[in-house]
Amino acid sequence: MQTALKYQKKSYCPYSKYKVGASVLTESGNIYGGFNIENASYSLTIDAEQCAIACAVSNGEKNLKAIAIAANGAKPCGACLQVMSEFMDKNSPILLIDTSKKGKIAISAHKLKQLLPLTFSAKDID
Ligand code: THU
Repeated sequence: MQTALKYQKKSYCPYSKYKVGASVLTESGNIYGGFNIENASYSLTIDAEQCAIACAVSNGEKNLKAIAIAANGAKPCGACLQVMSEFMDKNSPILLIDTSKKGKIAISAHKLKQLLPLTFSAKDID
């Protein structure tokens, strides 16, 4: 959660001004952070969660144990939940860190299976 909060500060979001930080904990105990990276061509924006996951996976860490997301009213979008489902178990914790109240954070814990009950997976392709 500390990493997610640290990365939230680094967010590149000149268009929305909506700062999102994320961090993932891997099987080996490493933590990777990421933040939203916006683009003048808006649809090319990279979400914070996908940034953190890409960082972990590109370092050879494909088994993610937990993810933390820090934002004002933090909530992962559907696309990010689907990306999580590729590398996380359905019971893995998703920690949401709401930074909307100055000087005070509110944390809530959820499971991937609660937020994305109808995951599309490799099984569906066979
Ligand atoms: N954003 C994320 O980084 N993660 C999400 O799950 C939802 C939205 C970013 C994308 C964009 O830079 C900003 O929040 C506003 O949509």
